[in-house]
Amino acid sequence: MFIVLEGGEGCGKSTQIGALVEHLRNAGHDVVATFEPGATARGAALRRFLLADESPLAERAELLVMAADRAQHVAEVVRPALARGAVVVSDRYAPSSLVYQGVGRGLGVEAVAAISDFAAGGLVPDVVVVLDVDDATAAARRPVAEDRMEKAGAEFHQRVRQAYRDLAATFGWTVVDARGAVDDVTAAVLDAVLPTITSR
Ligand code: TYD
Repeated sequence: MFIVLEGGEGCGKSTQIGALVEHLRNAGHDVVATFEPGATARGAALRRFLLADESPLAERAELLVMAADRAQHVAEVVRPALARGAVVVSDRYAPSSLVYQGVGRGLGVEAVAAISDFAAGGLVPDVVVVLDVDDATAAARRPVAEDRMEKAGAEFHQRVRQAYRDLAATFGWTVVDARGAVDDVTAAVLDAVLPTITSR
């Protein structure tokens, strides 16, 4: 069972992943909580490379290094965990590349999907939940911009949020309204995830 949480900056994803993982563990599941980019030792180096705000990074290079991180993550963390029967909950996965690089950077969703699928060896999540907030809420929740992606600007981040909504139907992602109180959003995330888990 492979669950992915997604969303633009300031959507409250970290809080909701914590709540989801706690719920699943309390229900007795073996849960591996992980993230992209940077969950492996090699990936941590790639994450620094990607997010350090040093010299400019070409958009295609950004995509390919995100993909390299995904390849390592799938091989080292996700596939082994799934093979032993664990529930894997990942903070971001391929949908982030489709949205940030495909739409945000304008590289094209189809091209990015092909590269990401190759990197992941075709591994597709069972459930993708997108936390959706309006621009004002995101701006209020977003931390002070520090890394290279956060500094990409308000217009880029609005495009990212819109792309999650636009691509959801095509890719079968469940969009959850994340504007409300934390507990209400957690309940909506569980509604999206639990039917798939219990049907296994
Ligand atoms: P992170 O600090 O994990 O962000 P957040 O707290 O918003 O989840 O940084 C990850 C950044 O990398 C985030 O801005 C999204 C971006 N990203 C991509 O652009 N493409 C990708 O494929 C992935 C996995 C992340």
